[in-house]
Formats: sequence, structure tokens, C-alpha cells
Amino acid sequence: MKKLLIVANWKMNPERLTQAKLLFNSVKQGIKKIRNTRPNRNQRFSNRVEVVICPPFVYLSALKANGAQDCFWENKGAYTGEISPLMLKDIGVKYVLIGHSERRARGETFEMINKKIKAVLKVGLKPILCIDKLSQIPKDIQGNYILAYEPVFAIGTGKPCSVERSKKMRKNADNNFVLYGGSVNSQNAKDYIEKAGFQGLLIGGASLNSKEFLRIIKNVAI
Ligand code: PGA
Repeated sequence: MKKLLIVANWKMNPERLTQAKLLFNSVKQGIKKIRNTRPNRNQRFSNRVEVVICPPFVYLSALKANGAQDCFWENKGAYTGEISPLMLKDIGVKYVLIGHSERRARGETFEMINKKIKAVLKVGLKPILCIDKLSQIPKDIQGNYILAYEPVFAIGTGKPCSVERSKKMRKNADNNFVLYGGSVNSQNAKDYIEKAGFQGLLIGGASLNSKEFLRIIKNVAI
């Protein structure tokens, strides 16, 4: 039985807390239901799936969610608008996305990302470093972090990376826990796990539709 990590990146969605609560609760209930049903009588799921949900910061406390989409590298001080790793830890967050391509595109540098990973590790949270090429992996990080291979052309485009190409990248990544992200849906999810050998998925658009997101979870668990 493999341990898989399925991460939902809600990005800047949904627009209201009431909608966020509805989405979060229906995913939570759906997961419970999946866990209580067996694929067939006498059969067990073949993989154990841990689900991480990364909503916008302002919804974290209300949802008691376990994932965040970013954080700053200092734990306190005069940094207007920033959120620290310690603050996230204090409200129950366990995983933090770092270096998402949508943040890199708006000016986040390799140095900033490097500092963020170290700060997240220092307080005992788990960073999920998003990369599009191997050169984006820092060499001097001590401690375990999760990698998410997200080719930019596949993010939010409905054009997922081919299984063969993603498999090559997974093999070359010098890290044993690697997720795939980029236009994942319930049709292609299982291929990235079974054929390309990823240990999980980072899901944007499809995580905003609870039925589709639950289908993905079920498909990879069986
Ligand atoms: P997508 O986004 O699933 O909508 O392609 C993935 C991501 O940006 O993490």
C-alpha cells in the first residue's frame, strides 16, 4: 500500500467564506464516505491517501484547513501584509506551498523561495516546493521537503503534461517524494501515480469542484 498526498490549491477562490465552507465540508464528508466504503466486498483500497487543502489565508482559521499557499520567511516583525510560518503552525497548518509558478511570475525569486523553504522547515511545517525545471531545486536545503513538478504550460490550461514526459522529470528529481500538478482531472489522475510513479498530485481547477475532486481521490485510492 502506497502513501499518496493529494493537495488542493484553491488559489484565490472561492469569492466568499460561505462558499469556502460549503466546498470544504462537502469534500470532508465525501472523504469520510470514501474511507467507509470498500471498492469491493472483502477488498481494501490499494493506496492510503492523505488530503491537504490550501485555501486563501483568510479562510484558514474558519475552515481549520491543513495547507497554505505561501508564507513569509521571518516569524514576526515589520513586514506589512506578510504571514509567518509560525502563525500558520499556530492555527494548525501542516503543509505550505512554496514557489508556485504564479508567484514566480509576479517576482518571487529563487533566493526568496530558498529562504521560505528554510523558514518553513525550521518551525516544523512541511514545504511543498513547486518547480517547472530541475534547476529550480535549491542545493543547500537540509531537511525533507516535498517537490511538486508543475510544467507551466500545463497549469490551468486543460493541457496536461504527457505521462512519458512527466515520468522522465520524476526520475530525474533528486527527491523521493514528488507530486505532479497541471490540469489534473479524474480521467488522468491515476496515470500520474501508476504509470509515471508520482507519490501524489497538486490540483488547482479540479479541486474547486467537490464531486470531481472526490472522484480523483477515489480513483487514486483504489
Ligand atoms: P490546475 O492548477 O490543476 O488548475 O492546472 C495546478 C496548480 O496551479 O497547482
